[in-house]
Amino acid sequence: MAQHASLARRAFPKPGVPVFEPDELRLVLVDRRAETANVTTYVFEAIRQDGQIFRHHPGQSLSLSLPSGSNLFQRSFTIASGGTGGNRIELTIKTGGQAQATLWMHKCLRIGDTLAARGPFGRFSPVHAPKAPLLLVGAGSGMTPIMSMLRWLRVRADTLDIALVQLARSRADELFADEIGAMAEAMLNLSVHLCLSRPDEKWTGLSGRISRPMLRGIVPDMARRVAFCCGPEPVMKATRAIYLAEGGVEEAFITETFGGAEHNAASRGRPMAVPAVRPMERLPQVSLSVPTPVDKGAWCLAPHMHERSEPISGPVPFGEDFIVGLKGKNFRAKPGQSIVAAAAACGLRIPTGCGEGSCGTCRVRLMSGQVAMRDQGGISRRDKEAGYILACCSYPLSDLELVNDVAGVDQAGAVSSSAK
Ligand code: FES
Repeated sequence: MAQHASLARRAFPKPGVPVFEPDELRLVLVDRRAETANVTTYVFEAIRQDGQIFRHHPGQSLSLSLPSGSNLFQRSFTIASGGTGGNRIELTIKTGGQAQATLWMHKCLRIGDTLAARGPFGRFSPVHAPKAPLLLVGAGSGMTPIMSMLRWLRVRADTLDIALVQLARSRADELFADEIGAMAEAMLNLSVHLCLSRPDEKWTGLSGRISRPMLRGIVPDMARRVAFCCGPEPVMKATRAIYLAEGGVEEAFITETFGGAEHNAASRGRPMAVPAVRPMERLPQVSLSVPTPVDKGAWCLAPHMHERSEPISGPVPFGEDFIVGLKGKNFRAKPGQSIVAAAAACGLRIPTGCGEGSCGTCRVRLMSGQVAMRDQGGISRRDKEAGYILACCSYPLSDLELVNDVAGVDQAGAVSSSAK
């Protein structure tokens, strides 16, 4: 830990990047290209309502307003471009990964079509980490944010030591092969390791699942690196376990967890486990504990309190449930239970994307009551001022009255497409 505490004094420059709502940001498709049989890169020109240049951090995401049946839904995708190309951005998307929405993009989206978008959001980015040697691990389409980071690092011409581990099923599924090959030649500070889970008989490189001997063999100094890992949950869990076993610290292992455990449990409407609790430093007058749902939060994030009523004046007894009103129904939330989890336990489904405060899909408006919110940049200042909170990472501190009117925001950002 001491090693990373000293590293924290060095950091990448971190320019402010605002989050835009669908009525403030449009994406016009200017090109598309096939990366593999089922992965397509869509190249967009981003247009801000205020005419300014659109900016994002490497590794961040966007939500697109896409039609599904007769409705519009927001679907979140990580940005593959590095954030250095002005208004030109790229989204590399696996068809079928999010069912109808990605299928619609693949079949119907044409050059010149315009989509409403929300973002950028998310803190899965080196700009929020100490400036230290990097271990980048991308599995399958989890390479998308990793590629964004590589492109950004290349443009910066930084001499930072970077070890890239790319996991793919076969050479045919390997994303960005040509560009990464060119980077490996041009960037002396970059080492590239490709591992195939289902190679053909001609393959002589790394194969099989990620393992401690394999990772130690190619990146023996992984513990001194800040690690960014994106891919299927089992791959991220296995890689994290190896990294920690090799002496890495939890805070320096950073994952992108779209569709993570809490999100999936919420989708199935089952009660979710209440995360471990720790004291809430900013509420000394309230004898209440709130959870730390994301371990890395202690490193770079701060909790935010949101309230729409009188501040809590007296102590709240630990263990007392709160009553939450939403959609004309009341349900109970235990102290330390997120609103999404409490709603799911009562059979109410609040739409979620990332499950960790990054994407903004779970926004609800707080009409009365008080919550502690531990977001990761997934909510705009405009939405905060309008009283919205992120239900996946907001924890009741009192009884609440909520309104779920985000559909109105979606409708404002309609799809304008010539390919209906
Ligand atoms: S589900 Fe992404 S912010 Fe809540």
